Amino acid sequence: MRGGFDDWAGTGSRRAEPAVIASASRGDLDEGLVATFRRKLLDEVDLHELGRLDAGQRRIRLERVVAHLVSTEGVILTTRERNALIRRVVDESIGLGVLEPLLADETVSEVMINGHDTIYVERFGQVERVPTAFASEEQLRQTIDRIVSTVNRRVDESSPMVDARLPPDERMPRGARVHVVLPPLALDGPTVTIRLFPKAYGLDELLNRGSLDAATADLLAACVRARLNVIVSGGTASGKTTMLNALSAFIQSRQRIITIEDAAELSLAQEHVVRLETRPPNVEGQGQVTIRDLVRNALRMRPDRVIVGEVRGGEALDMLQAMNTGHEGSLATVHANSAVDALIRLETLASMSDVEVPFHALRDQVNNAIDIVVQLLRGSDGTRRVVDVSYVASRHREDFRLVPLMRWDPEAVTDHGPAGAFLAYAAPQELVDRLRIAGESLGSGRQEVAP
Ligand SMILES: Nc1ncnc2c1ncn2[C@@H]1O[C@H](COP(=O)(O)OP(=O)(O)O)[C@@H](O)[C@H]1O
Ligand SMILES: [Mg+2]
Repeated sequence: MRGGFDDWAGTGSRRAEPAVIASASRGDLDEGLVATFRRKLLDEVDLHELGRLDAGQRRIRLERVVAHLVSTEGVILTTRERNALIRRVVDESIGLGVLEPLLADETVSEVMINGHDTIYVERFGQVERVPTAFASEEQLRQTIDRIVSTVNRRVDESSPMVDARLPPDERMPRGARVHVVLPPLALDGPTVTIRLFPKAYGLDELLNRGSLDAATADLLAACVRARLNVIVSGGTASGKTTMLNALSAFIQSRQRIITIEDAAELSLAQEHVVRLETRPPNVEGQGQVTIRDLVRNALRMRPDRVIVGEVRGGEALDMLQAMNTGHEGSLATVHANSAVDALIRLETLASMSDVEVPFHALRDQVNNAIDIVVQLLRGSDGTRRVVDVSYVASRHREDFRLVPLMRWDPEAVTDHGPAGAFLAYAAPQELVDRLRIAGESLGSGRQEVAP
């Protein structure tokens, strides 16, 4: 044990014990006391060494050490105050402090720290500044160390940039990809970008939330099981990744699935899954691995199905080719505002590939590859909804022709008043036949309206 009672009490006005008792009995803990014991704890234990313990064991170890420190320092506290102090000190030592409420907030998809006193979050695709701040740059740096040390990474002057993915734990319940840049590269202080992975909802949860209706859920599940190629389309934060994840649950467990993402957000339940993630270039601008590189490599890895988190470049061509050549039942998302826009976008992205392909040939690839487009929309009230499910009926070089299978009609008057409704449309015979060959059907309970 280094230092003694005077050590913490000797700094500033907090010499007298009654002050400690009075402040603690107000219900909130004495911040100075928390800071002092935190410093003592850090002197006492090597947090990096504790990294070998699991989260539960680590906490128990630290709580014991703090309890010991508190009793040997002879601070007068009630049992409740003592327990609260111990918990806070441990929280602050292994926890992520002011970030924790943001990380636990399900509506936050990104946390951006531009120096210790400027924090932004993204909610529903909108970036807003939050009143949260770290007390000092030092505190922010400690938090950064704590974040990156959980994955055995280090960030300091010699390696001032780190890009790491963090598994879910009690501090970051959803898992995240974290990027850090330190000064002098970052001019206004340590800069941290934390992309929080969306919570994995099953299709039944999306159904309960009113994001789609039961008939559509049955239809989509049948399409995935029957190995149709499905594209999930929508705007920013419309729930594309969430839907992709929910749909992937219907892939048969015996199949070998390869997922390809920029930041691996998908959490598939199947056992035979190979997850690939891109890598940004290093400080020297080298070592970049793109979605496209991964898609090409995936095809040599004997996948039954390929899942591309988001198609946004030339990899569209490779993906379309994969869908057309033995990897039926592949899934991907694309950023587009309508089902037909999704097809146009795939065609455009495929044309950006470095392989020269005549335009009509691209049209042919899209028409033959894509079977179903699921269009999502984020409402102004924050709701996410499937607003269109369409079957791609055009073939070869024809103009895109989509046959609606379901549409959300916001004007529809229901039994519960004018709240909008999901309208099912008659499916083309071709689709019915394809499902039937695979032992699937459109699902019961469809009440079709005339198109
Ligand atoms: N159907 C839904 N209902 C409510 N929230 C949803 C729904 N789908 C997604 N979300 C939430 O919306 C945010 C963005 O979802 P995400 O799937 O990442 O969207 P995208 O991939 O389109 O950017 C996440 O916080 C996610 O949990
Ligand atoms: Mg996404």
